[in-house]
Amino acid sequence: MASWSLGLPSSPSSLAVTVLYTPMIDLLKGIREEVLRECRMGIPEADVLTKLKEVNMVLLETLRLYGAVMDMDREAAKDRKLGNLMISKGVRVTIQFVKIHRSKEYWGDDANEFNPLRFKNGVSQAAKHLNAFIAFGFGLRGCIGQNLAMLEMKMVLSLLLQQFSFSLSLEYKHAPANHLNLQPQYGVPVIVKPFLLSK
Ligand code: HEM
Repeated sequence: MASWSLGLPSSPSSLAVTVLYTPMIDLLKGIREEVLRECRMGIPEADVLTKLKEVNMVLLETLRLYGAVMDMDREAAKDRKLGNLMISKGVRVTIQFVKIHRSKEYWGDDANEFNPLRFKNGVSQAAKHLNAFIAFGFGLRGCIGQNLAMLEMKMVLSLLLQQFSFSLSLEYKHAPANHLNLQPQYGVPVIVKPFLLSK
């Protein structure tokens, strides 16, 4: 995958999804409590962000179902046997994240449901296969920006939740689309209110 499709567009896109997609709106109220408990109303330091366990789980679950990067390609440098498959040198293999991230074999019967609690014991324990979560790729060519991406999403989400509450507009149409990165096809109209006033 060309690196120009990675990095900058990915985090905002994932963040937008986190903040705005339908299943998130109610959950946001819950994780706000954690944000206010750990960060209070200030700008969170990096070590405080690492304490945001529930926020982390929500972001991971968002990346599982709606991660911005949708697939990755590999070209075989030599003939290889992969399980039952013989892959000849030069053959290009595309790994579709959605197939793996929504596989009932790996994630159980609720694979298509938004359930952040599956990450409560960490990424490696979340599914029946150690590498079932590949939103940031894996191995030598895995995402070098993943820690930064998680940190910046936690930071922005914390700042937003300290100040605002969100509700989804009735005009919202759930239509995630592949525009190189996963994006909401018709945008995500939301109603944003100052948090303190809306309590
Ligand atoms: C939510 C945000 C992000 C997601 C979902 C994401 C996802 C990915 C994935 C799946 C790959 C592997 C692609 C492949 O193997 O073909 C990758 C690679 C990469 N990412 Fe990210 N990324 C994110 C944020 C970032 C950020 C913030 C940066 C830089 C500041 C970054 C820089 C890179 C680079 C340079 C590579 C290529 C690494 C290599 O080929 O050795 N990414 N990313």
